[in-house]
Amino acid sequence: MEKSYALLFLSVIVLLLPVSNSLATSSRDSIYDTFLHCFQTHTNQPDHVSNIVYAQTNASYASVLKAFLRNARFSTPSTQKPLLIVTPLSEQQVQATVVCAKSIDVQLKIRSGGHDFEGVSYVSQVPFIILDMFNFQDVTVDVQNEIAVIQAGASLGQVYYRIWEKSKVHGFPAGACPTVGVGGHLSGGGYGNMIRKYGLTVDHVVDAKIVDVKGRILTKETMGEDLFWAIRGGGGASFGVILSYTVKLVPVPEKVTVFQVVKTLEQNATDLVVQWQQVAPHTDDRIFLRLVLQPVRSNLVKGQKTIRASVEALFLGGADELVTLLGKEFPLLGLKKELCHEMRWIDSVIWWANYNDGSSVNALLDRNHYSVHSNKRKSDYVQTPISKDGFNWIWKKIIELGNVVLVFNPYGGKMNEVPSYATPFPHRAGNLYKIQYTVSWQERGAAIEKSSLAQIRMLHSYMTPFVSKNPRSAYFNYRDLDIGINSHDKDNYQDGQVYGIKYFNKNFERLVKVKTTVDPENFFWNEQSIPTYPSKA
Ligand SMILES: Cc1cc2nc3c(=O)[nH]c(=O)nc-3n(C[C@H](O)[C@H](O)[C@H](O)COP(=O)(O)OP(=O)(O)OC[C@H]3O[C@@H](n4cnc5c(N)ncnc54)[C@H](O)[C@@H]3O)c2cc1C
Ligand SMILES: *[C@@H]1O[C@H](CO)[C@@H](O)[C@H](O)[C@H]1NC(C)=O
Ligand SMILES: *[C@@H]1O[C@H](CO)[C@@H](O)[C@H](O)[C@H]1NC(C)=O
Repeated sequence: MEKSYALLFLSVIVLLLPVSNSLATSSRDSIYDTFLHCFQTHTNQPDHVSNIVYAQTNASYASVLKAFLRNARFSTPSTQKPLLIVTPLSEQQVQATVVCAKSIDVQLKIRSGGHDFEGVSYVSQVPFIILDMFNFQDVTVDVQNEIAVIQAGASLGQVYYRIWEKSKVHGFPAGACPTVGVGGHLSGGGYGNMIRKYGLTVDHVVDAKIVDVKGRILTKETMGEDLFWAIRGGGGASFGVILSYTVKLVPVPEKVTVFQVVKTLEQNATDLVVQWQQVAPHTDDRIFLRLVLQPVRSNLVKGQKTIRASVEALFLGGADELVTLLGKEFPLLGLKKELCHEMRWIDSVIWWANYNDGSSVNALLDRNHYSVHSNKRKSDYVQTPISKDGFNWIWKKIIELGNVVLVFNPYGGKMNEVPSYATPFPHRAGNLYKIQYTVSWQERGAAIEKSSLAQIRMLHSYMTPFVSKNPRSAYFNYRDLDIGINSHDKDNYQDGQVYGIKYFNKNFERLVKVKTTVDPENFFWNEQSIPTYPSKA
């Protein structure tokens, strides 16, 4: 086996040198032929495999590329496109894709739901192949044992739907956006509106199936404790291809409660936000109170801007109990029972997804329920409450800038109980809430992109005094290439340390150790992958 790879490798390296962004057409064709030949050799269905390997000249190449592209910022004529897209139908074909991409020494990008904020799953600055996992969508729910096996290409909406089909009193604590993919979400941490009750998504992973750099299929038992630890928050793409995760379901009540309360500065939103900081990270862990802050036109003073503060809530219980609880703890919210909506957990998923178009539960199965626009996001952690003066200053900056929206996601509850080293995700006890920064735009063009990016970067910089320091932490699944990137030397450990410590704090070193053991040649690399230790040579 090893020997035939070596031969193949030798024969194609001639075709590939020098590897540049503008590979000549003949060389591109050779890559298709060489890859296909390798792929056929490594699969049992040689006649049909050409149907799952798309060269740039294939009629469906563009639509396959676009199908799971979720940020228009990375869909321009100048965006680098993959040499090939491979869409396996079987585990064996995933194994062959890894082996063959490695044998021709071309970068492999793995895509599941395509929601990466920086397009890391489908864009690159060097020649690359996309391994698209969208055909792996099975979700097998075993209510008796309260577990589910969820394939990497499934969407969170599919996961929620399949659980609900089998049980009305089980749920799963993962992201609010139903089209997000399992492969990226779970391997990068994952959280949703049950984070205070149940912690992170990866806290509920009990097994996994992965294809490693040698093309072997490994499970928890065969991959070892370290690798199993790493792929629960350290990002799958540094370690191999995730085929599936086995997860533990969590109980949800038959009735939950949601509400939204909105106030502007004229309605004392600042006091509300100050009190939110005292309540949201500390209250009953069945309560999740997300806070969304954005600049809007004032209704009261013509021509003036104000801040709109919106509290969006999920309570794992009934409205009466919630109104009583928050009446005591959060009086400035002024919650009335009329504002509360009691519903089934699955309907709260629809509510949180903002599917406010009368969508039924079936909408959760629709992977195209997504309006693609351009955006950029960043993240921060707040560890000490921001003062009222601090907020007044922040409001001024948000209004000046004009287009950046902040979302505060409270932590506390279960997040305080899980040690920061239990999974690669380190931001546990001591963090009051996470900030997500978003700037979005519809129009095309370099000017709007430039000014939008400048805005979000400026606000992030203004926030420096209020957020975590040494390191200034960030959430790995809110990918942000501003905080550090692999230089062209993919094996540069120093580069990896820059973003690695922000995302993983003290867990970074263990991730590097695992990486160096399981993928010493650093085949599974990308703009922000875990580096290997510098070699001694
Ligand atoms: C609209 C929207 C809402 C979001 N809401 C939340 C939220 O509520 N909570 C939250 O925690 N996050 C949220 N996110 C962030 C989301 O969790 C991450 O972007 C996640 O990585 C997306 O997974 P994906 O499979 O869709 O992405 P992809 O773009 O396919 O992949 C993301 C990364 O994971 C790698 N990867 C993907 N599949 C595999 C695989 N099978 N094996 C190995 N590596 C793989 C990719 O190579 C890439 O590096 C949201 C993102 C968006 C766009
Ligand atoms: C791509 O094009 C080749 C050559 O025309 C064809 O044989 C193959 O089936 C096509 N593959 C797909 C996935 O459409
Ligand atoms: C805002 O707060 C002030 C001072 O506490 C109070 O007098 C006023 O009634 C409040 N306004 C609203 C709309 O609640």
